[in-house]
Amino acid sequence: MATQDELKKAAGIEAAKLVKDGMTVGLGTGSTVRFLVDELGRRVQEEGLNFTGVTTSLRTKEQAEGYGIKIIDIDDVDHIDVTIDGADEVDARFDGIKGGGAALLWEKIVATNSDKIVWIVDASKVVNVIGKFPLPVEVIPFGAGQVVKKFEAKGYKPVLRLDAQGEPVRTDEKNFVVDLHLERIDHPQELAADLINTVGVVEHGLFLNMVDTVIVGDEAGPRVLT
Ligand code: 5RP
Repeated sequence: MATQDELKKAAGIEAAKLVKDGMTVGLGTGSTVRFLVDELGRRVQEEGLNFTGVTTSLRTKEQAEGYGIKIIDIDDVDHIDVTIDGADEVDARFDGIKGGGAALLWEKIVATNSDKIVWIVDASKVVNVIGKFPLPVEVIPFGAGQVVKKFEAKGYKPVLRLDAQGEPVRTDEKNFVVDLHLERIDHPQELAADLINTVGVVEHGLFLNMVDTVIVGDEAGPRVLT
């Protein structure tokens, strides 16, 4: 039986085939995307693949530049051909949750400026109803405790994400992340509207009606869902 990492790697390698010379490509964040970037880096170095990346985190930027992949600022592109990113959960409509790696804000900015969005996941991420994975919400540090209290009052079961030292995790924008332990999200659009209308919330990890293709790393090989 394949390990989760092997399934992630298979999805990443399959997705790398979508990248052609001359493209501008959004590069997501996370362990699945690391495999994607490894494969793209190999193709740059061994096959002379020539593309430009727009990264969704400082981590991905560092990895990609290590391979000699050209990275440019999002404000310096007129369009992004395709963004390839991981996800924490995805349902049959391709609605999903992102932000397990605390990069959801930049990920959503890059995604919403892309012609096409492709997610790469191992089979365990495909679910009937999203929400078992705690929903990440990026909040401004000032007044974050008040936002947490508001979420508690609404029954959202918020938990401020802490690092190994017990300090609040900081995003690349130096914000905090609050994870909502909802167990299931039956009305994602309503929840998304409520979250984004909460003062102090910068962005949430619900990605709805955005994704074109999901590549699932499965035992039988990568499955491309459109
Ligand atoms: C980071 C993300 C990641 O794409 C998501 O958490 C999936 O990560 P992984 O590929 O490591 O399972 O949204 O903010």
